[in-house]
This record gives sequence, C-alpha cells and structure tokens, in this order.
Amino acid sequence: MAEALLSLRINGESVHAAAPAHWTLLEVLRYRLDLIGSKQGCDKGDCGACTVQVDGEPVLACLTLACAAAGREVRTVEGLGWSPEASNGCHPLQDAFDRWDAAQCGFCTPGILMSAEALLRKVGRVVTRDEVREALAGNLCRCTGYTKIIDAVVDASEMLAAPRDET
Ligand code: FES
Ligand code: FES
Repeated sequence: MAEALLSLRINGESVHAAAPAHWTLLEVLRYRLDLIGSKQGCDKGDCGACTVQVDGEPVLACLTLACAAAGREVRTVEGLGWSPEASNGCHPLQDAFDRWDAAQCGFCTPGILMSAEALLRKVGRVVTRDEVREALAGNLCRCTGYTKIIDAVVDASEMLAAPRDET
C-alpha cells in the first residue's frame, strides 16, 4: 500500500512519519510514532478514549485523518507532563487523579485528562461539577462511576487557581 509522508507537530516537536493516506491521527500516533497513551477503544467516535487536543481543542483522534492535523498543534497525554503547569513531570490533573484514585483500569484516563485539561485552560478558574460533567460527556468510563473523576478535576482546578508558592 502506498504511503504518504506526513509532517506533524506533536507535543511541541516537529515529527515526520510515513503512513497510508487514509490512516487516522490515532493510528499514526500509536503505530508510527509509538505514542500509545491515546487509546483505541471503539474506533468509531463513541468512547472518547482516543481524545487528543488539536490547536487546544479536544478531538477524537479515531475520527480525524492524520493528514488533517498537518500544520496544527497536536497535544497528547504524553505531553501533559511537559506543560508549564506541571511539576516533576506531572500535570496537576495527573496529580489529582492519583490522589483521588480516579483511575481504575485506566483505559479511559488519557482521553479524560485531555478533555479535562482543555476545560481547565478555557475556564481559567475553579470549575463546577456540572462544567466537568458537560466537558467529559463524550468520555466513557466503565469502572469508576465518575464521582472520583469529577472530584479530581475540580481539585486540579483549585490547585491551578491557588497562588503558587515561589519560595
Ligand atoms: S476510540 Fe475514538 S471515540 Fe472510541
Ligand atoms: S478507569 Fe476503567 S474505563 Fe475508566
């Protein structure tokens, strides 16, 4: 099968990959670039496990052609630990998920983190539980019952809103 050369921006870096022209962004991330944090669940837009950000907006990588992401900024869960808000390679959302035990099998977690991060960045203040529910409406979790996920996202927004101790 003929492959096309793709030039992409992923987590702030320029990368190149050869892949069939019909491949999705999710396939290129996982099977050409070894970025396997974004999960392949339903592969048809139902579960949200593949959620990444393109130009800061959450998108379903399983429904996005890789060629459509060329020239845009793609961010995956692997890039969260490198964001300015991160500390010791850990974004406040990741820290909160850990403290609240918000992941069980963890399959949904990368997609949820990317949807939640987009919400917190857009809102820029402590979020309400309803805002979190709405932002995560497209991310399914079969394990947790969502309560701890919502707790963790609200907690992370409080951490981000708190003044930083620079000492
Ligand atoms: S794998 Fe993309 S929505 Fe389920
Ligand atoms: S923790 Fe298992 S699907 Fe969400």
